[in-house]
Amino acid sequence: MATLLIVHHTPSPNCQALFEAVVAGATTDDIEGVRVVRRSALSATASDVLAADGYLLGTPANLGYMSGALKHFFDQVYYPCLDETRGRPFGYYVHGGNDVTGAVRGIESITTGLGWRRTADAVTVTGEPAKSDTEACWELGATVAAGLME
Ligand SMILES: Cc1cc2nc3c(=O)[nH]c(=O)nc-3n(C[C@H](O)[C@H](O)[C@H](O)COP(=O)(O)O)c2cc1C
Repeated sequence: MATLLIVHHTPSPNCQALFEAVVAGATTDDIEGVRVVRRSALSATASDVLAADGYLLGTPANLGYMSGALKHFFDQVYYPCLDETRGRPFGYYVHGGNDVTGAVRGIESITTGLGWRRTADAVTVTGEPAKSDTEACWELGATVAAGLME
């Protein structure tokens, strides 16, 4: 069975709403043969990453970048996972107050370095999520999970 690892930093109700929508999409009944593992960004390990077949990342935009927690995750796993995870599929969402540009740039840059393959459009949301935002997160989760079905 394929494993989808969701690594997220979820410090607020608005971020929680996006996270829950991603999980709901990834675990919808139409997805078969994919185990979904959730890890907070501060607890996810290189072993989690190596054991997974694809990834979903979620973060707020903080101080013009991804959260320190997700940055810490990448700091921990980058070199231990560099060789073995190249080419694996991933997707991500970012929640911010007004400008998520730096967070998006950072995630794109690091995942390019890792050689991960983005298989769904990134979802970026500012302020209170609208229904269309949670739907986009649901689609994100479902799309990346569906890509892991055998
Ligand atoms: C210290 C700090 C820095 C932040 N920096 C940014 C930022 O650079 N860009 C942005 O869009 N939002 C920024 N925010 C807003 C957060 O992204 C936002 O609070 C987070 O996504 C949670 O959303 P919520 O407060 O609406 O629930 C910042 C928040 C804090 C606390």
